[in-house]
Amino acid sequence: MTYFTGNLAERHVKRLAACIALAVGLTACGESRETQATAEPEVTPETPAKVGTAASSLEHWPTLQPALPRDEALEVRIAGLLAQMTLEEKVGQMMQAEIKSITPEEVKQYHIGSILNGGGTFPNNDKFATPDDWRQLADDYFAASMDTSDGGVAIPIIWGSDAVHGHNNVIGATLFPHNIGLGAAHDPGLIRRIGEATAREVAVTGVDWTFAPTIAVVRDDRWGRTFESYSEDPDIVAAYAREMIKGIQGDKNTEEFLDGRHLVSAAKHFVGDGGTTRGIDRGDTQVSEKELAEIHAAGYFTALESGVQSVMASFNSWNGKRLHGHKYLLTDVLKERLGFDGFVVGDWNGHRFVDGCTVDSCANAVNAGLDMFMITAEWKALLKNTIAQVESGEIPMSRIDDAVSRILRVKIRAGLFERDRPLAGKSGVLGSAEHRAIAREAVRKSLVLLKNNDQLLPVDARKNILVAGNGANNISKQSGGWTISWQGTGNTAEDFPGATSIFTGIKQAVDAAGGTVLLSENGELAADAFNGEKPDIAIVVYGEDPYAEWHGDLASIEFQLGSKEDQELLQKLKAHKIPVVSVFLSGRPLWVNKELNLSDAFVAAWLPGSEGAGVADVLLTDDEGNKRYDFTGRLSFSWPEQVHQTVINRNDENYAPLFSYGYGLDYSSDVQLANNLNEDGESYVDGNLEDAWLMVSRPQAPWKLFIADGEQEPLWVSGNLASSADNNITVASIDMLSQEDARALSWKGLRAGSVLLQTQKPQDMSRYLNEAAALTMDIRVDQAPQAPVFAQIACDGDDCNGALPLQQALNELPKGDWSQISIDLQCFAKAGTDFTRVSQGLSFRSEGKLSMAVANIKFVPGAAERAAIRCES
Ligand code: BGC
Ligand code: BGC
Repeated sequence: MTYFTGNLAERHVKRLAACIALAVGLTACGESRETQATAEPEVTPETPAKVGTAASSLEHWPTLQPALPRDEALEVRIAGLLAQMTLEEKVGQMMQAEIKSITPEEVKQYHIGSILNGGGTFPNNDKFATPDDWRQLADDYFAASMDTSDGGVAIPIIWGSDAVHGHNNVIGATLFPHNIGLGAAHDPGLIRRIGEATAREVAVTGVDWTFAPTIAVVRDDRWGRTFESYSEDPDIVAAYAREMIKGIQGDKNTEEFLDGRHLVSAAKHFVGDGGTTRGIDRGDTQVSEKELAEIHAAGYFTALESGVQSVMASFNSWNGKRLHGHKYLLTDVLKERLGFDGFVVGDWNGHRFVDGCTVDSCANAVNAGLDMFMITAEWKALLKNTIAQVESGEIPMSRIDDAVSRILRVKIRAGLFERDRPLAGKSGVLGSAEHRAIAREAVRKSLVLLKNNDQLLPVDARKNILVAGNGANNISKQSGGWTISWQGTGNTAEDFPGATSIFTGIKQAVDAAGGTVLLSENGELAADAFNGEKPDIAIVVYGEDPYAEWHGDLASIEFQLGSKEDQELLQKLKAHKIPVVSVFLSGRPLWVNKELNLSDAFVAAWLPGSEGAGVADVLLTDDEGNKRYDFTGRLSFSWPEQVHQTVINRNDENYAPLFSYGYGLDYSSDVQLANNLNEDGESYVDGNLEDAWLMVSRPQAPWKLFIADGEQEPLWVSGNLASSADNNITVASIDMLSQEDARALSWKGLRAGSVLLQTQKPQDMSRYLNEAAALTMDIRVDQAPQAPVFAQIACDGDDCNGALPLQQALNELPKGDWSQISIDLQCFAKAGTDFTRVSQGLSFRSEGKLSMAVANIKFVPGAAERAAIRCES
């Protein structure tokens, strides 16, 4: 590890400048906050909550009639069931537990209304569970829900799953391109067919309901769920939502509606999920009501028109108020103004963010209009507490009756009482040739040609073709997140029976045309490859590795992961004068000017899924050298020209992307793109200085987390647990508000040592100093220090390492509770940090025993004034 120099132990004690006197004895580093409150991103004076907090106004929302006319017989049936149900049974209907946390026996005992399998949860905990294992488990839960041997009313359970790009939790299913690629296809009819095929595959496994589609309109592409969005623009999202719902549920005006081949759909996440500040997952969407309705809700109007039966509440807040507790939006707008008569399901324990709530108690969400809690594990306690809240009058009985009526309405409409499941167990339908053909067509239509200098494409399939890059023969990488596992990680080729990698597709095309193709990930070739001749062309497939919610949030839109390797590969090919076609796999537009400059042709292929052959269909010719399919994909997201263009959307003022919304070449275009696009990443600091995140959920690029214990080689903390020798220092991922969003740091005190956020390339952070920034973080002290502790911001070399003593401040914090602490960067500067070349964004060094946890570490411009630890410049 070359970028650690000098003895860290010595540096800390060296320079304790004047401001330390101010720092110690300071008032407990800021007030302690309620855990709930830390969930709310601060509304700083720079970003005032100027809108939405004022009186809301329904005029921004259309008045819609319920999609299905009122059915008297159905309502009588609902009322009849309701009349027989006890309070326990009713509240049981409102619980959705995760299959890992509930048995069929418990479903029967507690009259539970719903179950889900989260991303990466399988029947019997078996990744390779067969479609029949799924169906069997579904049957067991169903039978339990209908078993009235202990009394009670038989109400069928409803099982939901995230079939977000095909039935992606099940091995062997067809995996369609993720939504961002579908958005580029501009083909609503195709979307409907994908919805139908997906519903059929889900139906095989006995699952009743898919948590799809995501109809977020994503504005800041740093959000880790950008790939789940069809477009940054409401037009495509609205058109697609209408068709996707029709595809999944069937046409509401025909017999096919919810007929067991067509299932219940959930439009998600209501509302504003794609509009959070800085693209932070579960963050705050600070927009006017007009913008919320016109941009972020556009897909709901058409989804409702198509008769969507459930809507999932979003994790995010709107101008500071969480959606799960937002009565105005859930009840006044969605249910009343927009005429929604289905039910609102929560997102994964999302109710716990609501003011006054915990994971197992949340009357405010029910009262706001949430009908079903996605409560995953703690359902027993939530059930009990909710019942008590009804008994005490905190939740009116009328609200419970309304929620349960809505759930019953959907269950009856979906035929769950009769359990007519024409496809259950028909495993041939899962991953069928017919469905794969639709997915392959979708891949072809999703590809966007961004550069094709000298009309290099199509590639003549009769030639000598080198295929390189770590995405070429990598079905996991081409499929992205929400693929078998939640984050899409940990999968290998064996996990994709029936699927085709991009390389396999190319090879099929080349073999058919009589050319020669070789795969070499790193581009190296044996001397006798291609009979000793140079390849005529190289197709290089690379891009982002899989990620999903919040793990995929980025601080910068620069393509970073692995890019050094990829750039070297492109450079090598360029040096050998081999024309290069880049096939870029990504879940969002990224700043790739360097890669564009090194490529003769560049294709945005997004995350195509299991049918990689769709790529070759468009890129390679037939055996006569003629194109087979042309490019028809057009960008549904604007592509940035500068690295600071993190929020860049069609219809912006001063819109200046590299490739505009709607851009895309085809084989008739003759467009040369200059190879001198700006490669200067420093322009990142142009314009308004944004918060610099060192760690949010996980360390943010370019920062990485390390343990530096005594003289030991520093240890990179890449997973969720790491310890130095003798477990002297341990770093573990823990939950503050959401899964693994904080790190617990503990020192046994055997030696002095540090935990640090380090970067290989020194960063010029001086603008933060100049713009009066403070270092802020959430912190919880579990075992107070008895020996000195320091916080340090440092550079390589011995001459710029500002360290501040922290022991007293930590001792004054309330034990076991989260607080926020903020330190004026001037204090570090005075202690000696040179902010023009920071390589240690922050380190904690302890000389004795200490146990604490930290989260949300960032530099916040302008926050020095309000910092708890301040130093005059
Ligand atoms: C996601 C939802 C998903 C749910 C169930 C949540 O974390 O936000 O989109 O449907 O989990 O897996
Ligand atoms: C589940 C996901 C869920 C996530 C949210 C994961 O463990 O598998 O489905 O969305 O947790 O916390």
